[in-house]
Amino acid sequence: MLRKQCVFAVLFGGALTAQPSAPSPKAAPLRELPWGQLNVLHTTDVHGWWGGHLQEPSFSSDWGDYISFAAHLRARADADGSDLLLVDTGDRIEGNAIYDSSKPRGKFTYEIAKEQSIDLICSGNHELYKAESADGEFYHTVPDFRGNYLASNLDIINPETGKRQPLAPRFKKFSTKNQGIRILAFGFLFDFTGNDNNTFVQRVEDTVKEEWFTEAIKDKEVDLILVYGHVDIRSPEYALLYSTIRDAQWDTPIQFFGGHSHIRDYHIFDSGSVALESGRYMETIGFMSISGLSTGQQARDDSPATTLEGNRATTLQFQRRYIDNNLFSLHHHSGKNSTTFPTTHGLKVTSAIDSARESLSLNHLYGCAPRNLFVSRRPYPHKESIFTWLETELLPHAVRPHAEGKKALVIMNTGGIRFDVFKGPFTKDTKFLVSPFTSGISYIKDVPYEAAKHVLNLLNHAGPILTSKELGETALLMPPEHLAARYRPHMYDAHSADSSQDSETVFPGYTTHDDAGTDGDDTVHSPIQFYKVPNCIQASIGFSASSDGAVQEDVPDVVDIMYNEFIEKWILLALAYLGESYGVEDTHSYAGGKSFTDIMTDWVEEYWAAEGGQCPE
Ligand SMILES: *[C@@H]1O[C@H](CO)[C@@H](O)[C@H](O)[C@H]1NC(C)=O
Ligand SMILES: *[C@@H]1O[C@H](CO)[C@@H](O)[C@H](O)[C@H]1NC(C)=O
Repeated sequence: MLRKQCVFAVLFGGALTAQPSAPSPKAAPLRELPWGQLNVLHTTDVHGWWGGHLQEPSFSSDWGDYISFAAHLRARADADGSDLLLVDTGDRIEGNAIYDSSKPRGKFTYEIAKEQSIDLICSGNHELYKAESADGEFYHTVPDFRGNYLASNLDIINPETGKRQPLAPRFKKFSTKNQGIRILAFGFLFDFTGNDNNTFVQRVEDTVKEEWFTEAIKDKEVDLILVYGHVDIRSPEYALLYSTIRDAQWDTPIQFFGGHSHIRDYHIFDSGSVALESGRYMETIGFMSISGLSTGQQARDDSPATTLEGNRATTLQFQRRYIDNNLFSLHHHSGKNSTTFPTTHGLKVTSAIDSARESLSLNHLYGCAPRNLFVSRRPYPHKESIFTWLETELLPHAVRPHAEGKKALVIMNTGGIRFDVFKGPFTKDTKFLVSPFTSGISYIKDVPYEAAKHVLNLLNHAGPILTSKELGETALLMPPEHLAARYRPHMYDAHSADSSQDSETVFPGYTTHDDAGTDGDDTVHSPIQFYKVPNCIQASIGFSASSDGAVQEDVPDVVDIMYNEFIEKWILLALAYLGESYGVEDTHSYAGGKSFTDIMTDWVEEYWAAEGGQCPE
């Protein structure tokens, strides 16, 4: 049925942009792009969503559409003598079936990514969890973007020579095509410690002391310092980079681009330095413009940008916009319509993504979700919380203790769940969006219940006890969106809709509050509330556990502690803290190592079976 729609689109003159089953975008009031002297398009944390969102109209454009869009903006820059740069700040892999279900896993991803011409690109932490994906950067992304890939604090063991070397150059200096703006660029990763042993992430505080860095930032023949990275824009790492560079260059404009925490945000360091973070999953294309920059063509001392701080503020101008990634927005901002928008190149990439999806059978139907289940858009617990569903429906039926008559506590970290389930088809696509990781469930037999019952509470509330250099923070147990709260204490506060807008055309979506106010989003939306989630959730199997200390009838003496493999270190540490010492040798792999993703899918096939192979409208 979906294929038929796409055929109609061709017959009736609509070009085949976006994926065939993608929903049409809805019209909404838009804010214009604040075009300037230097313009930048920014993507981050794409996590394999090259096909866009096939169940959400607001984010339904794909990587091919982004290629067409960038081509139009590049043409605009060439026509009016301004400049356009494209930046991507990492985590391009893991989180979508087109990456996670292909064999080898990078099969389509590298080919699709490289079609966009990206001027500045770097690695995220996800590229480095496994030695193979770090090698994938070495063999594919680095050469595909040679000269544009930077690795200011990242080394790799060269798989050919066995020797440690920078993954890519540490920094570069270049001049923009039309304006001749001289840019000094660095590409960073936050102080990540969970990488495999073939890469080395140097802490930012150590990197800024290195001679190559202190020398590089002394260069006065620059018009802009551009720091991009897989780094939260309000993190200590960026604060340190800002202060270090500002100490060396009191008046050079410094633009930061960041990522990792999956949110839209904009931070103003000073009147000459700002930072943009552009969301996640191809939902957002970040747009940044800077005007009032000196250029290599002028004598720098005559430039208005180098006069006193007060003057600079009136001439140097930074503006940001968060674009909802759909064709309604992309057509508007490029001044094109459905006939004039798609470029041959963009269409080719769209169709390559479609073929990849077909070859992986991503529309294969496992069942029909009877309602929406959200990661963060509902409180926990709630009947539309995905964690309540796991705890009360899925885990109690999908997981069994090690022997008949035994009881178990199943503990999962919320960060293992990456995305919402929408009412309707639960496909192979959905399966990997919700749970892209390959890890299975492990268990420890017959743990005294008196200790076992406190593990969840420790994981959720006793952060400092379980925080060590080796383990990383318990914050890593949560979905990345929630990591952002570390630097944003008011993130969960409710905010009200802009009531001046016409409620007929305004629908829920991103309503970003950042350092420049509330007008950053390109699309005017009504707000979606964002709720806190715990680090971990727990299901009890074979009895009803009470977390509030109420007297229970059926309290077991011992239980199996079952958990997703990823959190084993934390589970063992929590048990040790509770006086129950277990080692890795006491842990067992559940169901022959079957991944949680497959366990979930089997449950969906059994409990949400699609009648006649189709979901009700
Ligand atoms: C990395 O770890 C693997 C297995 O854990 C080991 O075989 C290998 O020698 C290690 N490599 C380095 C460079 O330490
Ligand atoms: C798109 O724009 C072109 C050029 O302005 C125009 O000729 C064409 O009719 C438009 N197509 C649609 C579908 O509006």
